[in-house]
Amino acid sequence: MTTVQTTAPALVHGRSGRIGATDFDVERVRRDFPILREKVHGKPLVYLDSAATSQKPQAVIDAMSRFLLKENANVHRGVHYLAERATDAYEGARSKVQRFLNAEHAEEIIFVRGTTEAINLVAQTYGKTHLGDGDEVLITEMEHHSNIVPWQMLCEQTGARLRVAPINDTGELLLEEFEKLIGPRTRLVAVTHVSNVLGTVNPIRRIVEMAHARGARVLVDGAQAAPHLDIDVQALGCDFYAFSGHKMYGPTGIGVLYGRSELLDAMPPYQGGGDMILSVSFEKTIYNKSPAKFEAGTPNMAGAVGLGAAVDFLGSLNREALVAHEQDVLDYGIRALAEVPGLRLIGTARGKASVISFVLDDVHPHDIGTILDREGIAIRTGHHCAQPLMSRLGVVATARASLACHSTRRDIDALVSGLGKVREIFR
Ligand code: ALA
Repeated sequence: MTTVQTTAPALVHGRSGRIGATDFDVERVRRDFPILREKVHGKPLVYLDSAATSQKPQAVIDAMSRFLLKENANVHRGVHYLAERATDAYEGARSKVQRFLNAEHAEEIIFVRGTTEAINLVAQTYGKTHLGDGDEVLITEMEHHSNIVPWQMLCEQTGARLRVAPINDTGELLLEEFEKLIGPRTRLVAVTHVSNVLGTVNPIRRIVEMAHARGARVLVDGAQAAPHLDIDVQALGCDFYAFSGHKMYGPTGIGVLYGRSELLDAMPPYQGGGDMILSVSFEKTIYNKSPAKFEAGTPNMAGAVGLGAAVDFLGSLNREALVAHEQDVLDYGIRALAEVPGLRLIGTARGKASVISFVLDDVHPHDIGTILDREGIAIRTGHHCAQPLMSRLGVVATARASLACHSTRRDIDALVSGLGKVREIFR
């Protein structure tokens, strides 16, 4: 029998309980997503794979196509009308992201391809110049590969050491152990805001306080948090914050690295090329300031515009009601799945957002995913790019349903009914 501990919303969001899930008009929001009208194998699409990538609202699709139809030109390079329109659109998107994160300066927002590139950027610039032999990077057992491998590469290059803070069996970070692992040689702490496998919401402010008290910098992997939580980088106090556009209703190929300006100013460039320079001669190149210093080459302009539209889309929703709605569907899902005979929930932390992972008897998760697909239900199955976490949990893979603003209790009912079919087939 699975013990279910549903989430205390205040733990996750710290907001008042005045606005509830019923204040969120999910049917109206669903109409914003054209793909939700598609049928899969003749069945209505039930999309429960938003943690892998989110679907796109019409406003994002329109903003990108408007840019390509009417404003496209290279940014920061031309004096002609379209070049100015494109530059305004691109820099306008940066300002939107600045407000979304409550960053102090627009120059602290660097456009990258996604979370993975953002973390690699920090490892190869800040990391390479601030870590040496015997220094340490501290991560946690719940990180996905994007927040493990760049640090392993950095350690190989510099002689630094990777330390890993443990989690308990419910999927919560063991904060006392974590604190003990922050030592005099810890230069960087890199931790996920929300686990892509467990849904655990980490106490980032507390983590930042612990790390800063010992002189370590903190990078937060916000890939799974950006679509679900209010993010205020100044309140969190973190040094770097990374997220991807495509998981928060924006396009693929665009993401953000936030960095505190004094850190960015002191960091070397990431890649060399156009736009990241003030002047070039064969003898010497003078680098541009942030953010241009970190955005070599023609950037993903339509992608940035799409991300700006995604920020607007999220801003147009009643955030408090959205949070309550997603929490309601999550709690409903956790309760409903716990009733499925033979099902074991993976990740039962007290503070959770948007993700329900599970295993079902000894049915391989890929078989679960394939059978559900025939019912029009999309979930993710496998190791979720988190193989060390799978080892820690003693499983090779899980099935994972993940939620978005358009998710409903109906989606969960369809999942439970699909799992009934899986059980019939494997009886
Ligand atoms: N990190 C993404 C996921 O969790 C790809 O599915």
